[in-house]
Parts: sequence; C-alpha cells; structure tokens
Amino acid sequence: MAERHTQIITHSVAQTQSVGQILGATLKQAFIIALNGDLGSGKTAFVQGLAKGLDVSEKYYITSPTFTLINEYPGRHHLFHVDLYRIESVLELEEIGLDEVLHQDAVIAIEWADKLPEGTLSNHLAFQFKLISDESRQIDIFAYGLPESNLLKAVEKRVQTELKE
Ligand SMILES: Nc1ncnc2c1ncn2[C@@H]1O[C@H](COP(=O)(O)OP(=O)(O)OP(=O)(O)O)[C@@H](O)[C@H]1O
Ligand SMILES: [Mg+2]
Repeated sequence: MAERHTQIITHSVAQTQSVGQILGATLKQAFIIALNGDLGSGKTAFVQGLAKGLDVSEKYYITSPTFTLINEYPGRHHLFHVDLYRIESVLELEEIGLDEVLHQDAVIAIEWADKLPEGTLSNHLAFQFKLISDESRQIDIFAYGLPESNLLKAVEKRVQTELKE
C-alpha cells in the first residue's frame, strides 16, 4: 500500500522536466524511482529534469538508453537511468545486471518498471504518466515507504509554488 499519493498535471514538456528537477534538487540520499505510462508520455523528459536537479553536467543529453538499457551519469548523487521497454524475461533482467544497480548508493530511475517481478522494489516512488492531450500529461505519484512519503510531501509543496507554464 502506498503511504502517500499526489497528482500533478503538466501542460508542457518544460513543466514535466521541472517536476523532475524539483525532485532531483530535493533528494538528499539514494533513491529508487519507478516510471510507468504510455509511450511518449514524458518519462524520459522527467529524467532529463531529474538529472538537472542532481547537477548532472549538461554535456550529457539524456535520451532513453536504447542499446545499453542502463546509462550512468555522475552528479551530486550518481544517477542510473534504466529503460526496461525491450526486456522480455526475468533472465534478461539478470543479464543486464539490474540487481547490482539496485544495490548502488545512487538515484535510480527505471522506465517501464512494471516489467519487474512484483516485490522487486521495496521503498520507492512510483510515477504513473498519462497522456491527456498533445501538451498535457497527468502524473500520479505514489510513495512506498516513510522517507519517500516525506520527500513527496516536500516535492508537492515546491511544485505548487514553482511550476511555471
Ligand atoms: N506535458 C508534457 N510533458 C512531457 N512531455 C510532453 C508534454 N507535452 C508534450 N510532450 C512531448 O511528449 C514527448 C515525451 O517523450 P518522452 O521520451 O519523455 O516519453 P517517454 O514516456 O519516455 O516515452 P517512451 O516510453 O517511448 O520512452 C516529447 O516529445 C515531448 O516533447
Ligand atoms: Mg523514454
């Protein structure tokens, strides 16, 4: 059961990036972030903002990790960007070494995390992205764990005051 839920509507890609940036800037420790939702709903855009909030150098341009499935960026906290879209079996998950990544002291953002076997992630924040229109996205955020719940509370506050069109 999620300990906290909030919903944010964004009206541009920049706003979705801002939500990621606010989360990244608020993070003080290692963290797991699960990202799910339709193709083109903004998961990668969110990770671009997250990287900015974690002070990842702008020389890195963040796209979905097409061939490697896992990309790694140095920042205020190390960022791992995982994309499980092409994963078809638990065996493949073992082959890409996700288990090892999940034990790193880092921020780990996982697109298509619903492909993981149930219970793989303990404490984490889960984002569900939904297309509303060309430029609007509904983002439901669920906190699993008390530190995650407190973090979500802080992010909600900042989003309310800082999100600009
Ligand atoms: N409010 C919005 N938030 C995020 N992206 C938006 C928004 N409005 C329009 N877009 C556009 O939607 C697309 C989102 O693409 P993105 O790669 O982030 O999606 P994704 O969820 O990672 O898709 P995939 O599942 O294919 O990896 C971009 O082309 C972006 O410009
Ligand atoms: Mg993507």
